[in-house]
Amino acid sequence: MSEIGVFEFQGKRYEFPVEIGSENEIAIDIKKMRSSTGGIITLDPGFKNTGSCKSAITFLDGEKGVLRYRGYALEDLAENAKFLEVAYLVIFGELPTKKELDRFENTIKSYTMLNEEMKDILDGFPKNAHPMGILSSLTGALTAFNPHAVDIHNEEDMYEAICKTMAKIPVIAAWAHSKNLGKPMNYAHNDYDYIENILQMMFMKRNERYTTNKVVAEALDKLLILHIDHEQNCSTSTVRIVGSSHAGLFASISAGVSALWGPLHGGANQAVIEMLEKIIEDGGDVEKYINKAKDKNDPFRLMGFGHRVYKNFDPRALIIKKSADAVLKELDIDDPTLKVAKHLEEVALNDPYFVDRKLFPNVDFYSGIIYRALGIPLEMFTVMFAIGRLPGWIAQWREMRLNGELIGRPRQLYIGKNKRDFKPLEKR
Ligand code: SDX
Repeated sequence: MSEIGVFEFQGKRYEFPVEIGSENEIAIDIKKMRSSTGGIITLDPGFKNTGSCKSAITFLDGEKGVLRYRGYALEDLAENAKFLEVAYLVIFGELPTKKELDRFENTIKSYTMLNEEMKDILDGFPKNAHPMGILSSLTGALTAFNPHAVDIHNEEDMYEAICKTMAKIPVIAAWAHSKNLGKPMNYAHNDYDYIENILQMMFMKRNERYTTNKVVAEALDKLLILHIDHEQNCSTSTVRIVGSSHAGLFASISAGVSALWGPLHGGANQAVIEMLEKIIEDGGDVEKYINKAKDKNDPFRLMGFGHRVYKNFDPRALIIKKSADAVLKELDIDDPTLKVAKHLEEVALNDPYFVDRKLFPNVDFYSGIIYRALGIPLEMFTVMFAIGRLPGWIAQWREMRLNGELIGRPRQLYIGKNKRDFKPLEKR
C-alpha cells in the first residue's frame, strides 16, 4: 500500500501521496494540493524544504557528508577517473567504455572552433570586464551562431549539441581570460586533451612552445571533477527552470553562469581569497574576522563556510584541502593564504557559533588556493567552477527535457494592497 501524507485544516482532512526515493528519502507529492484544497499552497522561501524534481543524477546526504554521481562515490571518481569520463557518466548515466570515451573526446575536439564573429562581440567588452559576465554573454551568443533547436528525442542531435557545448564553453572562458590580460586569443589544438587544452588556451605564449605541466593538469582535472554536479543548487535550478520553457541549451547554460556568479554561490571561491588576503593585510587577526562573522550587525560572512545542504563536512572540501597541500608542495609554493585558511578553519570549528549552526568549510574554501597555485587569476576562479559544473548543467537540462517536465512557474502569497479605486491626479 502506498504511503500517504495527511494535512488537516479548518476541520477538513486532505491526503497526499508520498514518494520514496532510491535512497529512502521521503517526499510528499503536493502537485494536486491547490486544486484539492480550494487554493491552499505551501510557502518555502529559498526552497529549503521543497523538491523541484525527481532526478537520477546526483545523490547527496548533507547530514552524512555523502556525494555520489550516478551511484559512484565522489571520492572513488576523483581518485580513479578523468574529468571527461565523469562528465560522460553524469550526462549519459554510465561510465564510458574506451570506445565511447574516444568518440566523446574526438567529437568534442571537432567542435572547439568558434565563429570568428564571436571575437567582434568580445571586442565590445571593456578590458576589465569580469570574465563571468563575458562567459554568460558569449554563451548566450552561441545561439546566434548555432540557431538549430536541439531535437532532444533525436539521440544523435542531442549528442552533437552536448559535445558542441562541452567544446565551446572552455574556449570562451580562455578568450575571456586573454581579453582581461590584453593577450591574443588562443585556439584549442587537437594535440592536447580536454584539460591540457584549457591550460594551453589560457597560458600558451605565442612566441614559445607550450609544454603541459602534468602536476597542474592533474590537479585541475581532479578539481573540475569535484565541481561537476551538486543536484538542485542555485545555478542548476536556474538551468532547469530556464530550459523548462524550452529555451535552448546555450541560453539555459548562459543563465546558469549568471546564477553561479553570485558570491553566495560559485562566486564564493573568489570571495574566499579576497577575504584571506584582507585578513593577512590586516595583520592576520583571525579572531577579529571570526567575531565579525558572528556579529549580526556586521554584514561580513565567513566566505567558503556554511552550506544549504551540508550540515557536516562538504566531502569536496576535504578532498580539495588534501590536494591543496600536495599541489603547493609539488609546485614548491608557499602561499600564506593556505596557512590563514587552516587557522581560520581550526578556530571556527571550535567556536560554538559555527558548531551550533553546523557551519563547515565548503567546496569554495580551499579551491581558490589551488587555482592560484596553478597560475589561474582570481577573477577566473568562478569561470573554472563553471567549466567544472558544465557537465552537470547539461545532464540536468537533458534529464528535465527527456522527462517532459512542465514549465517551472511557482505560485506566491500576495501581501500587497487590497482592491482600491483609482484616484485622479488632481486628488492625490
Ligand atoms: C556553493 O547549493 C549548493 O550545492 C551550492 C554549491 C554547489 O556545488 O553548487 O555547493 C556551491 O555555492 C557553496 C556555498 C558557497 N557560498 C559561501 O561560501 C558563502 C558563505 N556561506 C553563506 O552565505 C551560507 O552559508 C550559504 C549561502 C552557503 C547557505 O546559506 P543558508 O542555507 O541560507 O543558511 P542561512 O543563511 O539560513 O544560515 C543559517 C545561519 C544564520 O545564522 P542565524 O540566523 O541562524 O543566527 O548560519 C549563519 C546565518 O547567519 N551563517 C553564517 C554563514 N553561513 C551561514 N554566518 C557566518 N558566516 C557564514 N558563512
